[in-house]
Amino acid sequence: MSRTIYINGDYVAEAEAKVSVFDRGFLFGDGIYEVSAVIGGRLIDNDLHLSRLERSLKEISIPLPLSREEIVDVQRELIARNALQEGVVYLQVTRGAADRDFGFADDMKPSFVAFSQAKNLVNANSVKNGVAVDIAPDTRWARRDIKTVMLLAQVLAKRAAKAKGFHEAWLVEDGFVTEGASSTAFILTKDDVIVTRPNSQAILPGCTRRAVMKMAEGQKLRIEERLFTVEEAREAKEAFLTSASSLVTPVIRIGDHVIGDGTPGPVTKRLQTIYLELARN
Ligand code: PDD
Repeated sequence: MSRTIYINGDYVAEAEAKVSVFDRGFLFGDGIYEVSAVIGGRLIDNDLHLSRLERSLKEISIPLPLSREEIVDVQRELIARNALQEGVVYLQVTRGAADRDFGFADDMKPSFVAFSQAKNLVNANSVKNGVAVDIAPDTRWARRDIKTVMLLAQVLAKRAAKAKGFHEAWLVEDGFVTEGASSTAFILTKDDVIVTRPNSQAILPGCTRRAVMKMAEGQKLRIEERLFTVEEAREAKEAFLTSASSLVTPVIRIGDHVIGDGTPGPVTKRLQTIYLELARN
């Protein structure tokens, strides 16, 4: 079945959704994207995603193509037209099309594309049973706080991890875990402290990370935002990762080190349950 895609003001069939070969997103990776989860036909943490979209665009001087309200209308329209119950809505804004030149005019018209993808989130095997993550060097650029479409390092890290039977790669810089190739990394220490890396230019400020941390605070769980090493992660009592499309996913093995007893831990499961309840309501 063909999806309906949004492209620069129009809703068209998948086969009709075309961008120029001169689009700077295609030629230079000169663009920003966002992914919002949809559960029960409703957008999850979408305000956080739109704020981050605005921030990322501002950081690379691309104007917001529509107002925030209009973007939400596009997202809802795609959910309705594609009868999406569960999955994601993807947004991409690139600087637009012009003859190839590193330099660009200040008044370029951005190109805005959006589409939906149906996907099992809540009942995904990975979410229920947990995943194994590989350890890999973080070879990305130095502004990982900007959610650019320039994702080659992540693509290659994930492919290498998959080839070895892992679900995700946790990236490492100077001995410390930065984040997953497409998710935020968390560990639970032996003293029951949830640890995740503080936001900086070294990682993407995860929207799910933010929602989960707020929720954990509400549950009076102890949280520390600090760097942690691969060794500390391997010795953790529990571990998990978060992202719009993986929600709260237990990590049951890091490299060849089994975490806890190799099944999703109680704190992770508790966070999963509460996150889903909040998301549904
Ligand atoms: N990825 N870190 C990186 C590098 C990511 O690509 C993502 C999300 C996250 C988690 O962010 P959030 O909780 O806001 O989804 C962290 C999305 C899902 C993707 O690229 O498909």
